Amino acid sequence: MGIFDLNGKTVLITGASRGIGKALSEEFLNSNAIVYGTGSKEESIEWMKGTGIEGRVADISKAGSMAPIIEEIKSKHGKLDCLINNAGIAVNIPAVAFKEEDIYKIIDTNFVGMFRTCQAYYKTHKLIGGNIINVSSVLGLVGYSLSSVYSGTKGAAIQITKSLAAEWVNNNFRLNAICPGFIDTDMNKMIKDKPQVFESVSKGIPMKRLGKPEDIAGAAIFLASDASSYMTGQIIVVDGGLSSLL
Ligand SMILES: NC(=O)c1ccc[n+]([C@@H]2O[C@H](COP(=O)([O-])OP(=O)(O)OC[C@H]3O[C@@H](n4cnc5c(N)ncnc54)[C@H](OP(=O)(O)O)[C@@H]3O)[C@@H](O)[C@H]2O)c1
Repeated sequence: MGIFDLNGKTVLITGASRGIGKALSEEFLNSNAIVYGTGSKEESIEWMKGTGIEGRVADISKAGSMAPIIEEIKSKHGKLDCLINNAGIAVNIPAVAFKEEDIYKIIDTNFVGMFRTCQAYYKTHKLIGGNIINVSSVLGLVGYSLSSVYSGTKGAAIQITKSLAAEWVNNNFRLNAICPGFIDTDMNKMIKDKPQVFESVSKGIPMKRLGKPEDIAGAAIFLASDASSYMTGQIIVVDGGLSSLL
């Protein structure tokens, strides 16, 4: 493996119960990393039992939920080598229909939850350094109908990444972001449930298909490994070519 080697590195992946986070946790485990994965509730992490992945429950929209897990990993393994902020929620509704509580639910999960988790990691690792991968979206880069608040939080994820990369570089922290395109997960159930919409979305992607959750793993493994050691504050887009057309 050489520079891509993750053997013995500790990685914490939020939102590892399903979709992209589940695929990442399996691929990191296959790469011999020590993997901790979170879900928002006990049932979400059931599948991890017996796999070698350490499951923990944490609702990232709640203050203080991630700090104990990061502290536990540090005290057991000496260091958390890589944090992947993947947990997130999306809704596709017209901007005019957003209720106050819906706006804050998305912001508290996708933006505040991500920021607080970065903070908790930095506080415990500022003397040893760290590596953060934030999962944003192509919708953090380009506009898309019915995704105003979600897109706003994903744009914010990119700017958190760039700002903290600049602020924490002298503490030996690297931060980079991944922007997936349309990936075949529960988040796109609305598209998958409507054959016409599914066909038109698929046709609009240069590679003519939605991504598979495991399509995101290569970029994440690269960013978690020493192969990317001179990279910080950057964005990797994994979208089958979608954003090159927009
Ligand atoms: N799918 C796409 O097309 C796409 C495209 C671009 C970016 N992304 C981003 O990729 C990430 C993963 O998306 P996905 O498609 O894999 O979504 P998904 O299948 O809907 O899974 C979402 C994950 O986030 C977790 N989560 C949600 N709210 C949480 C909370 N308050 N506390 C803790 N965990 C929470 C869920 O845990 P539970 O199972 O416990 O609810 C689940 O593990 C998200 O940040 C998403 O915005 C997805």
